[in-house]
Amino acid sequence: MAKSSTSETKQGTQIAPAKGKLGVMIPGMGAVATTFMAGVEAVRKGYADPIGSLTQMGTVRLGKRTEARSPKIKDFVPLAGLNDLVFTGWDIFEDDAYDSAIHAGVIEKELLGKVKPFLKSITPRRAVFDRNYVKKLDGKHVKKGRNKMELAEQLRDDIREFKKKSKADRLVMIWCGSTEVFLQQSEVHSSVKAFERGLQKNDENIAPSMVYAYAALSEGVPFANGAPNLTVDIPAMLELSRRNRAPIAGKDFKTGQTLIKTILAPGFKARMIGLHGWFSTNILGNRDGEVLDDPGSFKTKEESKLSVLEQILQPELYPKLYGNIHHKVRINYYPPRGDNKEGWDNIDIFGWLGYPMQIKVDFLCRDSILAAPIVLDLVLFLDLAQRSEELCGLGIQEWLSFYLKSPMTVPGLYPEHDLFIQSMKLKNTLRHLRGEEMITHLGLEYYD
Ligand SMILES: NC(=O)c1ccc[n+]([C@@H]2O[C@H](COP(=O)([O-])OP(=O)(O)OC[C@H]3O[C@@H](n4cnc5c(N)ncnc54)[C@H](O)[C@@H]3O)[C@@H](O)[C@H]2O)c1
Repeated sequence: MAKSSTSETKQGTQIAPAKGKLGVMIPGMGAVATTFMAGVEAVRKGYADPIGSLTQMGTVRLGKRTEARSPKIKDFVPLAGLNDLVFTGWDIFEDDAYDSAIHAGVIEKELLGKVKPFLKSITPRRAVFDRNYVKKLDGKHVKKGRNKMELAEQLRDDIREFKKKSKADRLVMIWCGSTEVFLQQSEVHSSVKAFERGLQKNDENIAPSMVYAYAALSEGVPFANGAPNLTVDIPAMLELSRRNRAPIAGKDFKTGQTLIKTILAPGFKARMIGLHGWFSTNILGNRDGEVLDDPGSFKTKEESKLSVLEQILQPELYPKLYGNIHHKVRINYYPPRGDNKEGWDNIDIFGWLGYPMQIKVDFLCRDSILAAPIVLDLVLFLDLAQRSEELCGLGIQEWLSFYLKSPMTVPGLYPEHDLFIQSMKLKNTLRHLRGEEMITHLGLEYYD
């Protein structure tokens, strides 16, 4: 199916075409953001492939197995092309995207050199920042205002200015900023009205990431949250998102250890293998690791990482298998490793008649290399969601849970953490949008 035949398929849903440029706006121009932007440019120039990106490399099976119809996702639904992406960002440090990428040390200098003019051209805007929410960082490249509402207004000016200058047709914002201290939902988050009052009064329960999200959604710009911060996971943002038809997704990119956990745990459950405990520890030495060295930021991350097993294993349904699990997560800041994190898992499982066994996983991973394709896919899919009549007014895009450690859902609904269910949900959503049959894997008809 051609990309341009966008508006309607036979029984498909209405999707506006992806014409013109898509502006990508990133609060936090650190390791993840620069690895993403440098990577997009490297792919555009033909220096490398977009490995890990479902939108660029993935296919979707349509119809019966005998039909042999498996188009690329980017040919099946109308997505913005990589050549149509333009970028801006905010940071508390003045480094442009090239200097920041050098500092992050993820992509080697030779490849960075090839995309240097592009990266040099992306300079950060002044950030909305407050040390009370990220204790380990201190930067001077920040906005000033009498209250948080004024800061939000300045961000809205930035958004409009970028749109005009870059001639972008549409925009998406994705938070790649540091992990903020742990916040719980409170009164000020309960509605847009309460939130706006809170912005005026500088309510301490409004973190900087929320000011960005408020600015984006108020401008009708979709927002994704790559960190475990509360940010858009509050009723006020859901209300604003639905009202302005600006989709939201969050939270916390599912990379590294949690990705592996949500691959292994569904397998144990599928085979009714029991679990006594799962001990996960990490060493990492990037700026993210330094920020997470603060107990407040670590608490936010820990909550996000811990929630996964409980939901996948459903101890209430299988008390004998999963009723007494010891799940521990540790993150240790260890500078020599830089962005190349090492994640160890010791998994104590048990089988037939209760006999114990152990699995050890030692994942020598590269955090930002795993996160960058997620940023790309979330940006392209959120833009698709906004152009989709069916999805744009829903607020939370649960079909994007696939990419997230702590997926958002409407209140009262538990999140799906199993990577394979998430993948099926995502692909079925695409099939639905284009009026194709859902795939149930029943397959009895092949034996008629
Ligand atoms: N790399 C991964 O695999 C991964 C996975 C899941 C989540 N995350 C999250 O993604 C985020 C980015 O990770 P990273 O490795 O790029 O970290 P990083 O420290 O390299 O980059 C974060 C950047 O955000 C900036 N920043 C902090 N507060 C800001 C604010 N209020 N406004 C604008 N800029 C601000 C910092 O100065 C820094 O440059 C972190 O929250 C991290 O926890 C990363």
